[in-house]
Amino acid sequence: MNAHYLIRDTSSIFSPALLFYKDLIRANLARAIEVAGDPLRLCLHAKTHKTPEIIRMALDAGIRKHKCATIAEAEMLARCGVVDVLIAYPLVGPNCGRLVQLMRAYPACRFSVLADHPVGISALSQTLDAEGLQADVLLDIDVGQHRTGIAPGGEAIELYERIHRSPGLRAGGLHVYDGHNHQESFVERQRAVQTQLQPALTLRETLLQKGLPVPRFVAGGTPTFPIHARLEVPGLECSPGTLVLHDDGYGSRFPDLAGFTPAALLLTRVVSRPTPTRVTLDLGYKAVSADPPAGKRCLLLDVPEYRAVAQNEEHLVVETPAADRYRPGDTLFAIPTHICPTVALHQHAYVIENGEVTDKWLIAARDRILTV
Ligand SMILES: Cc1ncc(COP(=O)(O)O)c(C=O)c1O
Repeated sequence: MNAHYLIRDTSSIFSPALLFYKDLIRANLARAIEVAGDPLRLCLHAKTHKTPEIIRMALDAGIRKHKCATIAEAEMLARCGVVDVLIAYPLVGPNCGRLVQLMRAYPACRFSVLADHPVGISALSQTLDAEGLQADVLLDIDVGQHRTGIAPGGEAIELYERIHRSPGLRAGGLHVYDGHNHQESFVERQRAVQTQLQPALTLRETLLQKGLPVPRFVAGGTPTFPIHARLEVPGLECSPGTLVLHDDGYGSRFPDLAGFTPAALLLTRVVSRPTPTRVTLDLGYKAVSADPPAGKRCLLLDVPEYRAVAQNEEHLVVETPAADRYRPGDTLFAIPTHICPTVALHQHAYVIENGEVTDKWLIAARDRILTV
């Protein structure tokens, strides 16, 4: 096991536990800035960790622009003193009113949101204008994921013009998320990103030629970050999130992300040895995210030749010829395959520094509602 992960005394840690290795988080942030070339080229996504202390570490490192997916994450960011928050999610229904509440509660923070449909644009415009407020709205561009957004082209131009002339809204630029680009080969991923991005860049040129302001161009997640970071696109902001904590899902698939180290682990204990070849751990899918396929939800460290054969809410059942090494109470460590939803399953993370537990951080924005 990586010597960084060793903990001298685990007896104060209740399992299953989420562990944050502070020095590794700091190193991942530093590496992100190095790859981006400038902290101002980053618009870091907070959904991965949802934790105020990590936001403050990012601020200390010079990262000023932050992205989030929920109103609670936006509030957490504003409370930490972030003055530039992009809510990268289409706001509908009462969430438009919650944006107004956020803007009133945190006047020092500039909130931006996404839109991709005339109905969403009208709702935002009416709600904000009625309150005498104005927010930046980035047009969400679909470059192939087909989750949200609109394809670059005539309709996108019309929508952008509509944002520009809507009272209560400022045309804030373009947003491009390409989370479907998971090609393991860097060269193939790079080729896909460049091909898909071109129409969005052309759209930006067209809008500028029409005299419209396009102040921002926010792009991508972790797998495409090293690619976006190398592009000579003025003003491009990269918006990865996962790399702050990193995980085995990305780490095992994308060799070009080798400069990032998993900084969040799970501590689990053996609770049973039901057969001579079987070990059961307190690491059910209420402690590690179940969105990867069963059997592949985490990587157990230092367990030779094992196979995860069953998982329930609070149990992970593992077959291994080395089962007789383990006894109930023994401690094991695991790297989650998908860290973001795993973090959201935990109320706190134990903070580890130099082999000691030094703090406990609240996963503040795992709650859907803070005050707004
Ligand atoms: C809109 C958006 N931007 C950025 C990200 C960050 O991507 P990653 O988790 O690969 O860092 C995500 C992740 O889900 C996202 O949905």
